[in-house]
Amino acid sequence: MIKVAVLGHGVVGSGVVEVIDTNQDYISKNIGEGIEVKRILDLRDFDVPYAEKFTKNYEDILNDEEISVVAEVMGGITPSFDFVKAALERGKSVVTSNKELVAAKGAELLKIAREHDVNFHFEASVGGGIPIIRPLHSCLAANQIQEIAGILNGTTNFILTKMIREQMPFDHALKLAQQLGYAERNPSADVDGHDACRKICILAALAFGKHVYPEYVYTEGITGITLEDVEYADNYGSVIKLIGRAKKLDENGSLTCTVSPAFLDKSSQLANINDVFNGILVRGNATGDVVFYGKGAGKLPTASAVVADIIDAAKEEKNNSALYWIDDGRNHVVNYLDIEEKYYVRVQLPEGASGKLLEEMFGGVTFLSRPHQPKGEFAFVIDRIKSRDLLEKEKQLESQGVSVLGKIRILNY
Ligand code: HSE
Repeated sequence: MIKVAVLGHGVVGSGVVEVIDTNQDYISKNIGEGIEVKRILDLRDFDVPYAEKFTKNYEDILNDEEISVVAEVMGGITPSFDFVKAALERGKSVVTSNKELVAAKGAELLKIAREHDVNFHFEASVGGGIPIIRPLHSCLAANQIQEIAGILNGTTNFILTKMIREQMPFDHALKLAQQLGYAERNPSADVDGHDACRKICILAALAFGKHVYPEYVYTEGITGITLEDVEYADNYGSVIKLIGRAKKLDENGSLTCTVSPAFLDKSSQLANINDVFNGILVRGNATGDVVFYGKGAGKLPTASAVVADIIDAAKEEKNNSALYWIDDGRNHVVNYLDIEEKYYVRVQLPEGASGKLLEEMFGGVTFLSRPHQPKGEFAFVIDRIKSRDLLEKEKQLESQGVSVLGKIRILNY
């Protein structure tokens, strides 16, 4: 019997207990032995049939030599980092759904796991129930990964889908996502893009071999997206999605890595990923594009990935050397201001001004329209421009009395 401890009995933690309980017979048949949740760490009291398993003292788990795998599903860095490090140093494998922890401390924890010949797995940290970590380091191992782009946050995809399909206001859609258990404890992590940022950092580190620090990744969320932008996107044959992407630039390890809303052509595979679903496109030099699709958030999909990691960690007798990246102390992410892209821009012109002003400033622009477009509101698409140059032009526009109401990148996936 594989004996496991679960740290945290929130949405994912209780899901892990449920998945192990529900699928016990199936798992035993599949891997030749059962899994027992021996201890659960949580400071709260729970009225559940397995209440005798709870402890408030982590030492009870660390000192229990029967426990070979620890599942950390508490979230956050403190005290998760100390708990995970201590377990690895005691020779226990650790699995986690905690993307904040992996994005900040992944390289360090992978190193500790390797030094103690145990495993540190984190399939559930990206894409909820979608297998993506294991395919990246295993199934796609024969490829050089060139680029990854994805819808990595279920909550924001759910909100944007409601805005696009039902013209539902942002706040209302966010409340619904929270009720359904998709959102982070602090929804700012979702709507401001930090959750997607952590996930693209993990994928980029795994794909390109070097730790990617979230603080160097340009991160823009969806709080500035309006129903007007949704209408203009529709007029351009596009939908708005929150996209995390990372692209290898050279052999020295330089890469672009950003999170931002984007117009995607309606025919794009990523444009057709809706509700709480996530989609991750991986571009390999041998495979071409491969797209992973599934539920990116929610209790049981995420718990399913945690339990799969428990099974793997328990079966592996040695450290899995393929799941690894290093922290060389350098930032490899290039400054987003130097990235050249196509943009949608929405402005309000001062009374009496005409759209010619915009054509003159940007050269050729393509104007967009929407139903009931107010006088003086203009939306247009400009061809590729560096982010730094666009910021400069925005300043010039503002000095002429033009209000810039919004701008969104136009991506091609
Ligand atoms: N809040 C996250 C999301 C949960 O909405 O995608 C899964 O990481």
